[in-house]
Amino acid sequence: MATHVITGAGSGIGAEVAQRLLERGDTLYLVARDAGRAAQLAERFPGAHTLVGDLGEPARLSWAFEHQTLPDEVDSLLHIAGVVELGTIGDLTPKLWNATLAANLVAPAELTRLLLPQLRRSRGHVVFVNSGAGLRANPEWGAYAASKHGLKALADALRGEEADNGVRVTSVYPGRTATPMQEKVHRQEGKEYEPGKWIPVEAVATTVLTALDLPRGAEVTDLTVRPGG
Ligand SMILES: NC(=O)c1ccc[n+]([C@@H]2O[C@H](COP(=O)([O-])OP(=O)(O)OC[C@H]3O[C@@H](n4cnc5c(N)ncnc54)[C@H](OP(=O)(O)O)[C@@H]3O)[C@@H](O)[C@H]2O)c1
Repeated sequence: MATHVITGAGSGIGAEVAQRLLERGDTLYLVARDAGRAAQLAERFPGAHTLVGDLGEPARLSWAFEHQTLPDEVDSLLHIAGVVELGTIGDLTPKLWNATLAANLVAPAELTRLLLPQLRRSRGHVVFVNSGAGLRANPEWGAYAASKHGLKALADALRGEEADNGVRVTSVYPGRTATPMQEKVHRQEGKEYEPGKWIPVEAVATTVLTALDLPRGAEVTDLTVRPGG
């Protein structure tokens, strides 16, 4: 029975991954932005533990975790939470830049730092749900793409640093996926949202689990998932 720490379990891709791991009988620690959200997650995923930490405030995570019980060993840390705000560079304010970089880049770095002892102890796995925007920056996606390009750098540096400790690191790069985030993107783009056109969450969850389930002795470093088929 493996122990997983998961961000973003309240919605979309993260909810699907959490559900699948719970059904296996694994132990889950779900990171929630506040106590109210933690209570909702505990109800939705019976038996799961929760950790309260606002990823929008990465500098406070260390203090928040000092006051909660963390698992002794972590087999996988799944960074799935994320935020998006579209806008041209001409329009994006420092407030939006900071909010995007905090949740999508600095919080995953800090969460990883805080859980590295437990990950090393179990020769664990860190998975970053990145995005096609982590490989290519399109107009009006500047802040989000910058955060996801940074997340790629974080993953690549971590992989090299932790290889000798047996910690594996995977980045998953999904294209547009049918989740509440994608619905919001369509609203911002002024387009009609048709979920059937986009990747089902089940497919991205399967990709994450495929990386996790790879037998020891090998590591999937990067996986790109596109709509199609
Ligand atoms: N959907 C796509 O088309 C797509 C494509 C490529 C990559 N991705 C990436 O896939 C990941 C999951 O996206 P999704 O589409 O499943 O998004 P989603 O449905 O909007 O879910 C995002 C999750 O992140 C959590 N979160 C956001 N800010 C947080 C904060 N400050 N503290 C704690 N939790 C926070 C949310 O918590 P609450 O439930 O409390 O709001 C929610 O559970 C993201 O990293 C996203 O960038 C998505």
